[in-house]
Amino acid sequence: MFIGLDLGTSSLKAILIDEAHQVLAEHSVPLSVQRLHDGWSEQSAESWCIAARDALAALAGKHDCSRVAGIGLAGHMHGATLVGEDGRALRPCLLWNDTRAHAEAAEMDADPRFRATTGNIVFPGFTAPKVEWVRRNEPQIFGRTRKILLPKDFLRLYLTGDYVSEMSDAAGTAWLDTGARDWSDDLLAACHLSRDHMPALVEGSAVSGTLRADLAAEVGLPRVPVAGGAGDNAAAGIGAGVVRDGTAFLSLGTSGVLFAANDGYRPDAATAVHTFCHAVPDTWHQMGVILAASDALEWLGRLTGQSAGHLTGDLGPLRAPGRALFLPYLGGERTPHNDAAIRGQFLHFDHAMDARAAARVVLEGVTFAFADCRDALAATGTTIRQALALGGGSRSRYWLSALATALDIPLDLPAAGEFGAALGAARLGQMAATGAGAEIATPPAIAETVDPDPKVAEAFAEGHARYRHAYSILKDL
Ligand code: XUL
Repeated sequence: MFIGLDLGTSSLKAILIDEAHQVLAEHSVPLSVQRLHDGWSEQSAESWCIAARDALAALAGKHDCSRVAGIGLAGHMHGATLVGEDGRALRPCLLWNDTRAHAEAAEMDADPRFRATTGNIVFPGFTAPKVEWVRRNEPQIFGRTRKILLPKDFLRLYLTGDYVSEMSDAAGTAWLDTGARDWSDDLLAACHLSRDHMPALVEGSAVSGTLRADLAAEVGLPRVPVAGGAGDNAAAGIGAGVVRDGTAFLSLGTSGVLFAANDGYRPDAATAVHTFCHAVPDTWHQMGVILAASDALEWLGRLTGQSAGHLTGDLGPLRAPGRALFLPYLGGERTPHNDAAIRGQFLHFDHAMDARAAARVVLEGVTFAFADCRDALAATGTTIRQALALGGGSRSRYWLSALATALDIPLDLPAAGEFGAALGAARLGQMAATGAGAEIATPPAIAETVDPDPKVAEAFAEGHARYRHAYSILKDL
């Protein structure tokens, strides 16, 4: 048996699987995000540890865990957790969708060494510019910083006592030499840091440490190895069997991700596509990332006082987009714009627009943002021909049809079960514990394939063109 812990933005999820990857037990603990100012997004690092302890204890309460052999970790990427001498977080973690460090990011990005070494734009949400923001604005905190950890690596510190990261998450810091799979001393020095501030690096499928004896006793687990694990997107790739070159998934989580696995390192930073290490050795992946996918719908839900499920529950068959348009840039955008200043836009609303119709326009807007990611990936030479649909938003049939149509690819919907980041984490736990490799990262059974709808394909292509035009006009206002 193996355990996967997935530290998500809105909850921490723990699953227990057997050798055949059947889920034996699961438990989730909600987490909250603090948004003190526009563009800020923070989370208490201690809350992750409490959630992990409670989730592990809950698993052990639900199922006999005496034969657990390994644990794997996944987590939201890019967070800056500054850790002091005593191993405690010195301030709340600055999360992946925190864009306050846009000026620092632009300065770093103007230094050609960053793109050349990391293969990526230095986005404001990446770890390095956020740490630079802390250095400039909270110098007393920066001065006391001994280590900088990604969120799931802070959780690992709590679980094992070890300062370790792994390649897939480290690639999202702007300090990794992504092709060489090692920290760049040059880039660290450019940020007033050194390798001493960084955790050690292992591959995601390798052992990173062992569960602390006192914690193991407290939660009722054996002292087992903890795998390197992965950033949540690479972990989802392992969970969904997206490792082989040419395979892909589309994730409708808080953020939106169009993810393609690559057998080589093929960076093209100018496209705003992310090129990161995958979670198993000698593999990489590319992805287009939009900051608000399901998050945009949740926002509309809060605004209208109706749940996202209710808003999208009964939209009927796919319709051609109308004139109304939504740009989902509630907290800025990464792919393809790298624009931290842009905000969400609703255009061309009339008297007849009700909450349900507005929800459809929101789904269309996020769909067009994914079409932008498809185009950005294509500009790097990566063509996606079919993709698995993952994440909470994939429960909306309307949304899947819109996406299949706008992207002009069939979307495969996995049969019920677990196939996301938590499963990927558990599989990495199994690899670390048993020496198994990528062959155990098999794809899920497919329940259904959602095909593009030719009747409205042209209308979606036109809608996408208007969407792109709208951004080009509105970005300067
Ligand atoms: C990826 C990204 C998000 C987070 C949140 O670059 O920022 O997908 O990992 O899950």
